[in-house]
Amino acid sequence: MMTPDVAERRIQSLRQQINHHNYLYYVLDSPEIPDSEFDRLMRELEQLEQQFPQLITPDSPTQRVGATPLTEFGEVRHEVPMLSLDNAFDEHEVQEFDRRLHERLDTSAQIEYTAEPKLDGLAVSLVYENGVLTRGATRGDGTLGEDVTQNVRTLLSVPLRLVGTGFPRLLEARGEIFMPKKGFEMLNAKAEKNHEKPFINPRNAAAGSLRQLDARITASRPLEFYAYAWGQVEGGRLPERHSKVLACFREWGLRTNPENRLVIGLEGCLKFYKHMADKRDQLPYQIDGVVYKVDRLDLQKELGFVARAPRWALAHKFPAEEVMTVLRAVEFQVGRTGALTPVARLQPVFVGGANISNATLHNMDEIERKDVRVGDTVIVRRAGDVIPEVAGVVLAKRPKNARRVHLPLKCPVCGSKVLRIEGEAVARCSAGLYCPAQRKEMIRHFASRRALDIEGLGEKLVDQLVDAGLVHTPADLFKLTAKQLADLERMGDKSADNLLQAINKASNTTFSRFLYALGIREVGETTALVLARHYGSLDALLAADQDSLMQVPDIGPVVAASIASFFHEPHNLKVIRALRESGVRWQQQADAKKFKHSSILAGLTFVITGTLSQMTRDDAKDTILALGGKVSGSVSKKTDYLVVGAEPGSKLAEARRLGVALMDEQAFLRRIKQ
Ligand code: IVH
Repeated sequence: MMTPDVAERRIQSLRQQINHHNYLYYVLDSPEIPDSEFDRLMRELEQLEQQFPQLITPDSPTQRVGATPLTEFGEVRHEVPMLSLDNAFDEHEVQEFDRRLHERLDTSAQIEYTAEPKLDGLAVSLVYENGVLTRGATRGDGTLGEDVTQNVRTLLSVPLRLVGTGFPRLLEARGEIFMPKKGFEMLNAKAEKNHEKPFINPRNAAAGSLRQLDARITASRPLEFYAYAWGQVEGGRLPERHSKVLACFREWGLRTNPENRLVIGLEGCLKFYKHMADKRDQLPYQIDGVVYKVDRLDLQKELGFVARAPRWALAHKFPAEEVMTVLRAVEFQVGRTGALTPVARLQPVFVGGANISNATLHNMDEIERKDVRVGDTVIVRRAGDVIPEVAGVVLAKRPKNARRVHLPLKCPVCGSKVLRIEGEAVARCSAGLYCPAQRKEMIRHFASRRALDIEGLGEKLVDQLVDAGLVHTPADLFKLTAKQLADLERMGDKSADNLLQAINKASNTTFSRFLYALGIREVGETTALVLARHYGSLDALLAADQDSLMQVPDIGPVVAASIASFFHEPHNLKVIRALRESGVRWQQQADAKKFKHSSILAGLTFVITGTLSQMTRDDAKDTILALGGKVSGSVSKKTDYLVVGAEPGSKLAEARRLGVALMDEQAFLRRIKQ
């Protein structure tokens, strides 16, 4: 066994190394050692501290999680009040802010501002005495907050001990604790699995996670911290500019937001606002605007405060992505596979830059978990290009007569029985293609671009054709006459003719497109292609049973069962026969030949982002599929390559985060030409 002296030296060295690597990881975002090596250092420290418990100190990196839950939070007084910010909702208000400052400071020179993202979490105060974290507190009402020291200690991005030199003897750093989007999704996915109520948004989740009497719960939650302000400072001095103070914070191990910028004048502020608005969706955490702060502290002092906010700072908010409104009714829509999707009919609201009166409620499980009732005041979210959804209920506003939502027993479109398999979230209309809603979706899918690609056969026209009783199955499309079409509302001779030509053109297709177009559950484009390649002909595929299907690479029991049952259904066989009789055809030969020499991308999954210059994204997708690869719509751990075109989207950041290999267009072209 080591002597206590040797152990102490080793323990100190380990703590120093761990703090240093933590700093590299969290503050500088550039780790130098792999996680496994970091874990090894931690384990060695833990073991030594176990052997020499007298050497354990509260600032040891092993001492983040206290074991004894509190019964209540202590109260904390903020010697320097924690203020809030004035808000601006448009450019004009920012202009006014800048003008007022010029007036007060009696200057015509441009003002320098630090511009920062406005993090959507909760403000906290961290007190460091002689570099050691001694207190963590929530903002509370600005003067009195809660003592959450035990909880903030569990955040790996909060240093228990400052690094470097030159920090004041007493330093109260302030900043935001927030939950990154990914962590929030994971937490809610877990809640869903356990049939627990989900958190409405990352901010609620952060607040709920921090305010836990048992710090072990906080420790298990993905919380992070960025410093952006300070309160008490004693026994030392800070630099004369906000930006320089933040730079010092960073050197002392306090994490600051790398997006922060020093900008000049109104123009610089507005440019930053636009930049962050564009980047918002790609950021790993939620922001609800940006903050401008006069950079020179002497000017800040001159400007002072009004009521609860400083005159020298302004929050410039983005249009709200979450608003409250009243749920007027819940209706059920029927999709292609008969799935009933509950849709919220809302009192119209302006959210995420658009007027919204409908939002998805996903499925019955979701309604039950969120306990959504008709008449409730609900929170509606519309972020980026995501479909608007009901995020949660404001229970405090529930009226007495709020009504529970029930799954209809009968399909709202065709009146057939609704079935919900035990344990499945989705309820379905049992009528299959006899249900007009399913029929419409089926025909839309059949005609869609990546299926048979019937140009001009849009949503409205499909509705008209089905409602007029002209089309019951996809095969009926090929029997349409010019006269029938021209009789439809808003359809002239010319458009009727164009449509007939498009239908005729589409009848010459490929085997895999045909299979995809049939809309077999679980059979997407990739599976359709695999089936086409494997069986080569429709007759061979029709003859296959579930066991044979399971021999096909990448086809598991669920998919095999779905395919087998589709081809077992007499109604489907009738449609297929009718399609063939009406002239739908494909060149078996060409398909087979194309694939024989080409499996150079077999086993690889690609995702494409941005615009390619040499080919469309669809062409790239087809090429990858034809060469045996797979194409997915989103980046995950299973992605092998992200093909990056011009102006890539958020997939690039995600790929970088997951360490997925990147390929530019040139590299991609070289690869497929091998
Ligand atoms: S500075 C005296 N900077 O916004 C100035 N606040 O509406 C104190 N917030 O309570 C705040 N990001 O929770 C500041 N970069 C940022 C911020 C930020 C988010 C929050 C903070 C504050 C609230 C005020």
